Amino acid sequence: MYGVKRGVLITFEGVECSGKSTQAKALARWLAEKDLPHIFVRDPGTTQIGENIRKILLNPRLGNMHAKCEVLLFLAARSQLTYEKLLPAIREKQIVVCDRFADSTYAYQTYARNLPARLVAVFNRFAAAGIKPDLTFLVDIDVAAAQKRGVGGDRMEAEKTEYHERVRDGYLKLAHRAKKRIRVLDGTLPVEALHQQVVAAAGDLLLRKGYRL
Ligand code: TMP
Repeated sequence: MYGVKRGVLITFEGVECSGKSTQAKALARWLAEKDLPHIFVRDPGTTQIGENIRKILLNPRLGNMHAKCEVLLFLAARSQLTYEKLLPAIREKQIVVCDRFADSTYAYQTYARNLPARLVAVFNRFAAAGIKPDLTFLVDIDVAAAQKRGVGGDRMEAEKTEYHERVRDGYLKLAHRAKKRIRVLDGTLPVEALHQQVVAAAGDLLLRKGYRL
């Protein structure tokens, strides 16, 4: 492909029911319509191993999981995703759309569960082979507003509202520190309006990276 040196990684982040997965899938559909080489993945998940780890992580009957066990399982799933899917796709100049990635670990584990930031960051680099997203969309929404859209019953969703509020704070702190990479979107906007913002920012990135839209 003319001008493209390597693939790109675009991630979507946000609290539960923020609408991030809807936006991630809509971007993947847009890329398909444009005939651009891409894959859509979710973290944790996508690989057979990752989907199995995901089942353990989200099983509401495993409510006594220690925070250290939890973070290591998320990282284990991410390392399989990285080596099985992300690295080959990036090498093949594909555009990777990823529903959640390392920023989730920062918001949900390091920040909201008070795990040691430096240590988790080192483990995360180890798990994800140092891959960093080129662009991240944080679909930001007030936790109460998100919960009005529905509250699921998995192990993470079953956490108290205060936990999810800390997750949101963690995300906003991170976005403040990484203004260039993380685009904060207003999750209360209609789906199509958000999609237009996503496509505008992703389109800019792809043009800069040498893709032809
Ligand atoms: P999902 O339902 O949006 O796919 O996310 C799965 C759950 O896992 C969600 O509650 C967020 C949580 N999660 C973490 O706590 N840490 C992580 O590193 C990741 C990727 C997800």
